[in-house]
Amino acid sequence: MSKGIFISLEGVDGSGKTSLKEEILNHLTGYQPLSLREPGGTEISEKIRNILLDTSNEDMQSRTEAFLYASARCQLVEAVIRPALQQGQLIVVDRYIDSTLAYQGYGRGLPLDFIRELNQLSTGGLKPDLTLLLDLDPQEGARRRAGDIPDRLEQEGLLFQSRVRDGYLQIAQAEPQRVRILDAHQPLATVVSHARQEIEKLLASRGWR
Ligand code: TYD
Repeated sequence: MSKGIFISLEGVDGSGKTSLKEEILNHLTGYQPLSLREPGGTEISEKIRNILLDTSNEDMQSRTEAFLYASARCQLVEAVIRPALQQGQLIVVDRYIDSTLAYQGYGRGLPLDFIRELNQLSTGGLKPDLTLLLDLDPQEGARRRAGDIPDRLEQEGLLFQSRVRDGYLQIAQAEPQRVRILDAHQPLATVVSHARQEIEKLLASRGWR
């Protein structure tokens, strides 16, 4: 087991991951947490991010998309996450392997086994200690994002986002130990309090508290 602690945040677009992440980072400030996002977090991964989210890349094939997310992640895991965990750091990442299963698998309809294999290959099997899933009706997510300029994935519409949401719920059902569902329809303060409880349990189980 690595010395560090690895927490990921997941959810459909507009589910409030960014606000939750800020609150979690404040709560954990004594541990000097490392804050990352996917796709991104390294110079190369941020370049791949630009390709992925660019709305002019209309012709991008689903498998190309999946490989690009995997490449961005591989770079982040090898260059940043694994070394940081070995040094005993606490990492909070906005999106990780479950995004690829939910978006490219359930959302795009690529075979789930293909995505699982891709996730395994791009991370060497590294999974978070805890994944907080912000569950939200995509219609509410769209309302919350109203006024923002949508990126390429956000342009996919409500049916796509619904498949992603259902996918996330299935992932949570399959791995209840790792993936905790937070009801993102609740006020942020309630969601944050639930998230803190889950994190505190994890820290205690690792002897950090
Ligand atoms: P981003 O602006 O970071 O969205 P958010 O703030 O909601 O996290 O854009 C990331 C987009 O990429 C988001 O729409 C989800 C999508 N995505 C995938 O489709 N597959 C993946 O593996 C990852 C990491 C993200």
